[in-house]
Formats: sequence, C-alpha cells, structure tokens
Amino acid sequence: MNSGKKLRVAILASGRGSNLQALLDAAVEPDYPAEIGGVFCDKSDAQALERAKKAGVPAVWVDPAGENYEDRLAAEIEAVGCGLICCAGYMKILSPAFVARFPDKIINIHPSLLPSFPGFHGQRQALRAGVRVAGCTVHFIDEGVDTGPIILQAAVPILPEDTEETLSARILWFEHRIYPLTVRLIAEGLVHREGTRVRLSGVDINHEGGFISPPVKIL
Ligand code: GAR
Repeated sequence: MNSGKKLRVAILASGRGSNLQALLDAAVEPDYPAEIGGVFCDKSDAQALERAKKAGVPAVWVDPAGENYEDRLAAEIEAVGCGLICCAGYMKILSPAFVARFPDKIINIHPSLLPSFPGFHGQRQALRAGVRVAGCTVHFIDEGVDTGPIILQAAVPILPEDTEETLSARILWFEHRIYPLTVRLIAEGLVHREGTRVRLSGVDINHEGGFISPPVKIL
C-alpha cells in the first residue's frame, strides 16, 4: 500500500469518526497522494477506532488519564512516521508545546465558517446568532483555539426550518468533501502557509460560486 511517495497522515479522533471515514475512503483510491498511517484516539470506545481497524489501519488508544499524555501521543504518532496530523472530531485542545513539535503539520476541521463560532457546537452557535450562512473550515492549528490559518471553507445556507441536526448534516456533507480535498492539496505541495494566511498554488479558482442565503425566490 505504501508507494514510498505518498504523504503519511496520522488522524486524531475522539468519537464517531465520519471525517476519518471520508479520509480512509479517499486513501483507498490508487491515485490519492496520501495514506493513513494511524488513528489515535483519546476515548477507548470511539467508533473511529473500529473504523480504522476495519480499514486495516493501526488504531491506537492513548489514555488521557495517565501522566504526560501528549508526550505519549506524540511518541505514538512519531513511531508511524507521519508528515501530517489531521484532527477529525478530536475534542481535546492541543497544547502549544505539542503544536510546536509538529510545526505547520497539524490541521483541523471545524463546523463553522471561522473565525466565527470557534469552540464547541459551532452549528448551534450559528443558529443562535441568526446568521444566514454557515459552513465548515479546514485550518492549520496554531496556539489558539480554532484560530490558525484557513486553508479551505465550504458555505451552506441556513434555512428557516433548520434544527441543529439538519444544519449539522448539511455542513457534514461538505466536511466529508473538503477534508480529503485539503489533504490532497497538501500532499501535492499546493498549500503554502504565509504568516496568518494560506496561499494555494496550481488550483483553478472558481470565482462564480456565490449565493444568496436563504436561497430566496422573488414571487
Ligand atoms: C465534525 O462535525 C467536526 O467538524 C467537529 O466534530 C464533528 C466530528 O464528527 N469538530 C469540532 O467541533 C472541533 N471543534 P466525526 O467524528 O463524525 O468526524
């Protein structure tokens, strides 16, 4: 499976693991330029661990209760030799020391259009704020919480009848697409961090994708 040229990716997850699954599914494609080297969970009963095992990928539970949790986590990741770490529903905040150990090598997916609605329950925060557009963001992790340079975002409308569940499902559909796409772009060397911003090279930018939200029809 390891062609020697593919970017090896470590995934940190805490729960359901549907974003992990999207990455596992992408990595099965022969022309996908990344492979999943290991899945690391802080919860022993995370569904993500089952998904990894089913895909034949090392599935490692690292007990967060013991001493030096992040050192043990980092050692496990380094043992599988990964060039990128993807947080996929990983619900612990990584310390500045951990982030500094893997400079510009840790990315995260978050269910809001950052910098709006960082932290927990991004979808609920968007509904409560009454915004008309929600979405998801893939970004580099820095020392802050959901503050790092933004790589890709996808936007969705918020509809009048939306609940947290319906909005989350609409956003999740895009999460499952922009996360594997981001990893592909990074693996192909097209993502360049420049301070607080990210430049993409070699990609065709569609300038006509805007929409009015909610998608109103004038009667
Ligand atoms: C996803 O919606 C992800 O964006 C979110 O948790 C969910 C995990 O689902 N992450 C955060 O809120 C991080 N702040 P998954 O386990 O099915 O991928």
